[in-house]
Amino acid sequence: MELKQQAIEILRRNDRGGYTVPTATGLYPAQWNWDSCLVALGLAQFDEARAVTEIETLFGGQWPDGMVPHILFHGDDSSYFPNAAVWRAGPTARSSGLTQPLVAATVVRHLFENTSDPAIRVRLTALAPKLLDWHRWCYAARDPEGTGLASIIHPWESGMDNSPVWDDALAAVDPGPSVALLRRDIGFAAPAQRPTGPEYDRYLNLVILFRDNGYHADRLYDVSPFRVADIGFNAILQRANHDLRWLLAGTGDGTGAAEVAMMEQKTGAAIARCWDEEDGFFHGLDTRSGAAIRKPGIGGLLPLFADHRLAERHPSLVQRLASWLAGVTYGVPSFEPGRPEFEPQRYWRGPVWLIVNWMLIDGLERNGCADLASRIRRDSLRLVERAGFAEYFDPHTGVALGGSEFSWTAAMYLHLVADRT
Ligand code: DGY
Repeated sequence: MELKQQAIEILRRNDRGGYTVPTATGLYPAQWNWDSCLVALGLAQFDEARAVTEIETLFGGQWPDGMVPHILFHGDDSSYFPNAAVWRAGPTARSSGLTQPLVAATVVRHLFENTSDPAIRVRLTALAPKLLDWHRWCYAARDPEGTGLASIIHPWESGMDNSPVWDDALAAVDPGPSVALLRRDIGFAAPAQRPTGPEYDRYLNLVILFRDNGYHADRLYDVSPFRVADIGFNAILQRANHDLRWLLAGTGDGTGAAEVAMMEQKTGAAIARCWDEEDGFFHGLDTRSGAAIRKPGIGGLLPLFADHRLAERHPSLVQRLASWLAGVTYGVPSFEPGRPEFEPQRYWRGPVWLIVNWMLIDGLERNGCADLASRIRRDSLRLVERAGFAEYFDPHTGVALGGSEFSWTAAMYLHLVADRT
């Protein structure tokens, strides 16, 4: 079967009725926030209506305060750890008590611009006020001091769970009791490709702290011992601000569009202040200690996704990306190769993820860096041709890592192939 057809089959097989599980392997038996949004880009290649449903189902779990949770537990499957019974969260639907990168508005805009079906446009338009509520929540709950940068309060909020960028901030968190015997993920994926035991203990201890605080958004920012204003999270937010403003203006909501323009202006200026001239890279900060985090994770390249004139202002960032690519066979590694923390097979400490590749391809093309964009596109397609629809890939050997038959890898393949012309 040709790869395109295989990708469609994976998305159909992982469809649980209105939402798509990230993988067929059982590793993630629920709906994940940014997985679903990015999966919608692939679904749209063969079923636009189903793509919109994916996002509508996600927003069906939106909390009254505006947060869209990082996991929605729709069925009775309790095989994931931590499952709904551990989280005990979600005022209306069972969910986690955290969020994930706000990529939804960018996807909704993309679907809107690429459809000719008025009924699809109506459904997408109806999502705009919900997206606005989520962005408002993000600033109120994760940037109560009004700095322009949202702080994640858990590595899971970044979507890049075990990136070396969090190492120091996470080490300062009390590990609490060991959860080694409760973990399910290492039964589905090789332990050497997953976060470590000490990391997992801290992930869970943070969840328990938030649960003990009733998941009240106005409390968690203050009580969390882990607080990081991450460049990747904020760059995705900033791009989404831009796309949400466009959507709102198109629906005639001038007031909403003006409100988002303020968010955009503030976050744009705050990201610009994170440029480290000496290092030629964007660095986020630990907002607990106030210290800059000088670790080159892939999130530091994502301002290219947020700003189409970035390459002009910071050509050295593009050169840095090119140097990362020169150090591997397949780009883009999730952490700078050659650094002591770089691990080519361990989750977000080095492996290649096609969803970030898509963000960089999109950003580089908009920045006029077509050659680098094509190299990354070519590598992405070669990885799938070589190793299948894996969760992530080794940047040196290209071998498949993590879960298999992965929904967002299938979706990115369909999206990148369609976009190639
Ligand atoms: C996991 O379980 O690894 C997820 O990334 C958490 O959201």
